Amino acid sequence: MDVWFDVAHHLETALKAAAAELGWPAGSFTPDVRTADPRFGDFQANGVLSYAKASATPGTKQNPRALAQALMDALLRREGAALTDRMTVSIAGPGFINFALKPSFLLTWLRTFDREDDLRRGAGQRLASQTWIVDYGSPNTAKQMHVGHIRSIIIGEAICRLLEFCGAKVVRDNHLGDWGTQFGKILYGYKHHLDRAALERDPLEEFERLYKAADAACKESPAALEEARLELVRLQNGEADAVSLWERVNQLSIDTLNSIYARLGVRYDHFLGESFYRDRIEAVYRELIGAGLAVESEGALVVFHPEHPRFATQPFIVRKSDGASNYASTDLATMAYRVEHFKADGVIVVTDARQNDHFEQLWLTTQKWFAHAGRRLPQFQHVTFGTILGEDGKAIKTRSGDPIRLKALLDEAEERAFAVVTEKNADLPEAKRREIARAVGIGAVIYADLSQNRSSDYVFSWDKLLSLDGNTAPYLLYACVRIASILRKLEPAQDVGAENATPFETPEEIALARKLVAFPGAIDQAVSTLRPHFISLYLYELAGAFSSFYNANRVLVDEPEVRARRLVLCRRTLMTLQTGLHLLEIRTLDQM
Ligand code: ARG
Repeated sequence: MDVWFDVAHHLETALKAAAAELGWPAGSFTPDVRTADPRFGDFQANGVLSYAKASATPGTKQNPRALAQALMDALLRREGAALTDRMTVSIAGPGFINFALKPSFLLTWLRTFDREDDLRRGAGQRLASQTWIVDYGSPNTAKQMHVGHIRSIIIGEAICRLLEFCGAKVVRDNHLGDWGTQFGKILYGYKHHLDRAALERDPLEEFERLYKAADAACKESPAALEEARLELVRLQNGEADAVSLWERVNQLSIDTLNSIYARLGVRYDHFLGESFYRDRIEAVYRELIGAGLAVESEGALVVFHPEHPRFATQPFIVRKSDGASNYASTDLATMAYRVEHFKADGVIVVTDARQNDHFEQLWLTTQKWFAHAGRRLPQFQHVTFGTILGEDGKAIKTRSGDPIRLKALLDEAEERAFAVVTEKNADLPEAKRREIARAVGIGAVIYADLSQNRSSDYVFSWDKLLSLDGNTAPYLLYACVRIASILRKLEPAQDVGAENATPFETPEEIALARKLVAFPGAIDQAVSTLRPHFISLYLYELAGAFSSFYNANRVLVDEPEVRARRLVLCRRTLMTLQTGLHLLEIRTLDQM
């Protein structure tokens, strides 16, 4: 029997075919199959209700329940035993169709998808042969990252992994802010205030100090201000010494950033910062003007969107009145490059919600420009997120009111996790405890972020995120460790192969098996909304279903066929938890 990986998706296709057979006009019916309330089944098709409403004509009413019945009959006629061997189908409420998987199918599914690679292959149909560019992290160079930068990195990386899991080729691109007026001051500061020892110790810290020193000097002395301005002009004109100094600043920045990215499990394919596009912007102006999209306004070059309530009067400024390009023109050139060079099918940019207007205008402009120029239009998503709050409910800060450095935050996570691990496991060698603490500490910070709907703000609390109870990384990591240890203690004679298992019987076995088979649904929700918290929520519920099962059903019973199916559940739970945690950038452990 061909085992459907994503049962909901399979049902949608079958329902559409059944609707076509009934003569429901193409496009008028969307099956809308979702994971159901477990009391009623595994999946529910909700689409008949909206179809009934939409297809009613004045004076005639459609009876949704009768329509659901007709659709179900057609479905059963078409699919026959292929369907009824796998599940029971019934009508509920005003016109829902419920599908409840049979225990024998649950077992077949779990036998088929028994390794991370199998799940990956199953999910991998979805975006196969598509290329997606994910632009995330993307800080300004010559500056340290602070805690505000972490969400873009963590959420962006989780999205990369999700897309890859679904079969896409992903290009991880860091769109560094490495070009702009600040470099005049940084170069000035480098020439006049450099502390070489400090630069050796911590380049980004020193660049920040140099910028501040130069800024102060410029405020005090017109001569300094003029010199900084000239530095910028020399850089923009490509004078060798200015360019090589600027390159050095950027290279040191990238090296330092990389050491933090590595701790978070992130490796970029490209660092195509703003500077990369500086020679590609003139062509954008030409095309926008040629298309009649860009117009001069008060000396600047701007794009209005007359159809839009705000952007009809608030234009997208693409060239400043002093003739300089900006963030907007750079992003337009970036869009074109990503399609031309990487053949991108989709582009995702991850930033906080304050950049909403910019990306809305960017996308409106891109669509019109590409249509006019006959360029291929990719899909585009601006992925945004809320703020991390301190326990006082305000944006998180240090005691002295400064932003918290990302490096300091990660150090503290590891230190705190080390204390917890040491308390629990004093006899492990220190190196081992450090290794565990790294996975737990960093994992806890990552998970605290990804377990929230990214659109919301969330309160950062060390006690909560390091807790072994609740929806936390330590809880899930510990669940893995516990199952791994059950499996490790197994004696060869006790380890009955999955082929000897009988279908699930107890309510806890069935509940856990259904939760495992619901994994593709969690992937679907997460990838179609680009919201990784659907995975976290699923993993948390899965761990709960495992606990209930394990507390109620002894695994090492005498009957070999019962033991076999319970071992299948243990193994698949462990594998699914690990797969999900890896999607969320969390390293799993066999000991804690
Ligand atoms: N450097 C920008 C910032 O710090 C983020 C860049 C996002 N990517 C982009 N293509 N605009 O806010």
